[in-house]
Amino acid sequence: MTRYHEIQAHLSTNRYTWLITGVAGFIGSNLLEALLKLNQTIIGLDNFATGYQHNIDQALADAGRRPGSADFRFIEGDICDLETCRSACAGVDYVLHQAALGSVPRSIEDPVRTNQANIDGFLNMLIAARDAGVKRFVYAASSSTYGDHPDLPKVEDKIGKPLSPYAVTKVVNELYAGVFARTYGFRTIGLRYFNIFGKRQDPNGAYAAVIPKWISSLIAGEAVFINGDGETSRDFCYIDNTVQINLLAAMTEQRQALDQVYNVALNDRTSLTALFGMIQDRLIERMPALKRVEPTYREFRPGDVRHSQADIDKACRLLGYTPSHRIGQGLDAAMDWYVEALG
Ligand SMILES: NC(=O)c1ccc[n+]([C@@H]2O[C@H](COP(=O)([O-])OP(=O)(O)OC[C@H]3O[C@@H](n4cnc5c(N)ncnc54)[C@H](O)[C@@H]3O)[C@@H](O)[C@H]2O)c1
Repeated sequence: MTRYHEIQAHLSTNRYTWLITGVAGFIGSNLLEALLKLNQTIIGLDNFATGYQHNIDQALADAGRRPGSADFRFIEGDICDLETCRSACAGVDYVLHQAALGSVPRSIEDPVRTNQANIDGFLNMLIAARDAGVKRFVYAASSSTYGDHPDLPKVEDKIGKPLSPYAVTKVVNELYAGVFARTYGFRTIGLRYFNIFGKRQDPNGAYAAVIPKWISSLIAGEAVFINGDGETSRDFCYIDNTVQINLLAAMTEQRQALDQVYNVALNDRTSLTALFGMIQDRLIERMPALKRVEPTYREFRPGDVRHSQADIDKACRLLGYTPSHRIGQGLDAAMDWYVEALG
């Protein structure tokens, strides 16, 4: 039995109250679905900056709940408001803090808004969670923290200089989390997500992530653009692995696992050209005409790191992380959703 199985078994017979910030977003709504399936009580906070009511509705439906379910209470509000954070944290056991403005290019175009949500909002959440005496605060950190550090795979204690305002905000989150441990004894866990993908990830808009964006373009018969020469690589990580590590982090009883950050990925490296091929292969089964489609290569995007691959030994060792899906398995698992939702 893995540690994750033990935790799932424990949660299915013990009910706790969880706060998920960013619950209307991609990762937050998947956490909501997973926790509802484990019969937990969830409070969700979101201001719909980039999230959607339909993500919440779908998570409830996929977990077999109706709108208005007693297991879930939604607060529409902004983490930039400390009082909103305080009322969301009241009576909460575990906080999974996901709310932030994602995207490197968004932060380059509008660093002030990114800074407000990701730094001011993060600090508010830390204060509110500390004062509410929650059992654990787990937060979404980012692989962008590695910045210009050349080593591969990325190991948690070797980071470079940030390459974007977004990366600065995620570095600052980790700095604040460390200070809260040293100053107030409030011990947290940061999860440095690499490129997470799966159902409910937004395919639309200028800042969409590559996998849903390409799939929706392919289905719509639109051009697929690869930024750069196609050799840029990423460690793509399926959402179920991300849900798993959030629960492992929240429930860990190991003291040495606290006040730490962990890579969340697979220690795989997939180039953008290879990724295009993997997606195309899976779509061709449903839409044979896509066989002839070629991607269009264009300029490199400012702020992007060239290669990204995570060493996941620390998460495996200290949290008992055992990823269930490699990239191909994740694409297989999500493809029906992509085709139905994006088609
Ligand atoms: N998806 C990835 O690959 C990835 C990689 C690294 C880090 N992350 C981090 O994971 C977290 C979740 O990302 P996601 O991919 O689900 O993005 P998302 O945009 O789908 O979800 C973020 C949610 O936060 C909400 N939000 C934003 N600002 C808010 C505010 N001020 N107050 C309340 N709610 C607010 C949005 O409305 C949205 O619902 C973010 O912190 C992001 O930086 C994601």
